[in-house]
Amino acid sequence: MQTIYLDHNATTPLRPEVLVAMLPYLNVHFGNPSSVHRAGRRAKQGLEEAREQVAAFMKARPAEVLFTSGGTESNNLALRGMRRATYDTGKHIITTAIEHSSILEPLRRLAGEGITVTTLPVDREGRVSAEDLAAALRPETTLVSIGLANHEVGTIQPITALSRMIHEHDVLLHVDAVQAAGKLPLEVHSLGVDLLSLSAHKLYGPKGIGALYVRKGTNLLPLMSGGAQEREKRPGTENVAAAVGFGVAATLAAQEIEWQAAHSLRLTTRLWEGIQDKVSHVSLNGPERDRLANTLNVSFAGAAGEGLMMGLDLAGIAVSTGSACAAGSIEPSHVLLALGRDEAMAKSAIRFSVGRDTTEQEIDRVLEVLPSVVERVRAAARSQS
Ligand SMILES: Cc1ncc(COP(=O)(O)O)c(C=O)c1O
Repeated sequence: MQTIYLDHNATTPLRPEVLVAMLPYLNVHFGNPSSVHRAGRRAKQGLEEAREQVAAFMKARPAEVLFTSGGTESNNLALRGMRRATYDTGKHIITTAIEHSSILEPLRRLAGEGITVTTLPVDREGRVSAEDLAAALRPETTLVSIGLANHEVGTIQPITALSRMIHEHDVLLHVDAVQAAGKLPLEVHSLGVDLLSLSAHKLYGPKGIGALYVRKGTNLLPLMSGGAQEREKRPGTENVAAAVGFGVAATLAAQEIEWQAAHSLRLTTRLWEGIQDKVSHVSLNGPERDRLANTLNVSFAGAAGEGLMMGLDLAGIAVSTGSACAAGSIEPSHVLLALGRDEAMAKSAIRFSVGRDTTEQEIDRVLEVLPSVVERVRAAARSQS
């Protein structure tokens, strides 16, 4: 049975062009990019070309791009690296209630180390308000961290407008753009960000490689020691092949961003209209418009999301009950709770996230299978109550 893969917000398949570009850096150009001999210089060349590509992807300078092991590390480096750089003055950080756990968990730890963290609420569609942000900014605030697009419901935040206010207060802005990358145009200057996190495996690149954009002049201290790589901000021999793959994936993603958005919107509209036709008591989580076009998060009242996910999996359809990192947990999604859904509705949610290879036939197949899976899971819940 061929899987219908509708979990692209968890991860994406590696593009064949990316694999082809990576292979020589695993077996032929295997040198250490810090070595000065020819083999090292060849690896270094691949690494620096990749840095240029990732920089071009977000209209940054290559010197402003640090390679990391992925989105989680980029987020940790941004938050904790800033904390280290502002030890005397940085007493207050602002974030939102719907961030990824790789933001919320490090901030929870920083709160235990004496930092005050303000967590802004969001409205029913997941948007943060400029008024709430204005009210939260204080003289001792050093950093605001907001995701550009939410991983579970696809809400897009008005970063450009917020960044103006943040900079008027002389505060730095970190943006987690892991889910937005490849789905929305990314320009660090028009967004007005000082730090921005990316991850390759969300845009058809390899896992285990990401980047942190650090605007020129921004002071950030490393979290590890033991090497001078990545401008001494991220020591350790770089994953050259993965960086090369990231560079190619980012270049290809930028080329087809408009096509991908239109393709995704066609598919998620078809899916949502079909679900409303065929299944009763469903509700959309997140905004109707102006969200990530590939993301559709739906609550099926009276059916447990875990049961739906497993029923669909048995039928060869891969979806998620929330963020991948929270999957398997029986806790309701903190994102859906923050949007004002009650616990039961949050636990009955499924996230469908389509990708560049998803077809209309696959969506139609999902619409064929889904009503009976929902009915079975609802019947099981009724029989237990
Ligand atoms: C918004 C967001 N930030 C960060 C991450 C973590 O990225 P990585 O898997 O590369 O560590 C994810 C992954 O799901 C994400 O969705």
